[in-house]
Amino acid sequence: MSLLQAACDVRENAYAPYSRFKVGAALRTASGAVYSGCNVENVAYPEGTCAEAGAIAAMVAAGETRIAEILVIADSPTPVPPCGGCRQKIAEFATPDATVTLCTTDGQSHAVTVADLLPGSFTAAHMARPDDR
Ligand code: THU
Repeated sequence: MSLLQAACDVRENAYAPYSRFKVGAALRTASGAVYSGCNVENVAYPEGTCAEAGAIAAMVAAGETRIAEILVIADSPTPVPPCGGCRQKIAEFATPDATVTLCTTDGQSHAVTVADLLPGSFTAAHMARPDDR
């Protein structure tokens, strides 16, 4: 299934009674498998989770950890970008050159890379201890 179709389909299941802003995300792993997720809000607002986080959780739960590409879609005036926290979550499992496609439900799309979204990102290399340098 295409990432666009998977993200559109899962977006229908978004639980967004507070923002009324439904988001769908779908990713393809190095193995070719597709995982998807939608935003799940909560009356205690900070407890809500983003669509990207749901797709990543589904991927990890299935035993995979390498995002080859990811797509996000919402009913936005312009292609919807992942929030800051989701950029860091995506970077954990993707290479800097992996494609992130930002979409709208009316057919707009804009492809960028993980590095475009999160330049100068914090990585495990920054935690190297003095005797590892
Ligand atoms: N949202 C996502 O699911 N992904 C993003 O990257 C941006 C924001 C959701 C969170 C919340 O449920 C709603 O959109 C409004 O912020």
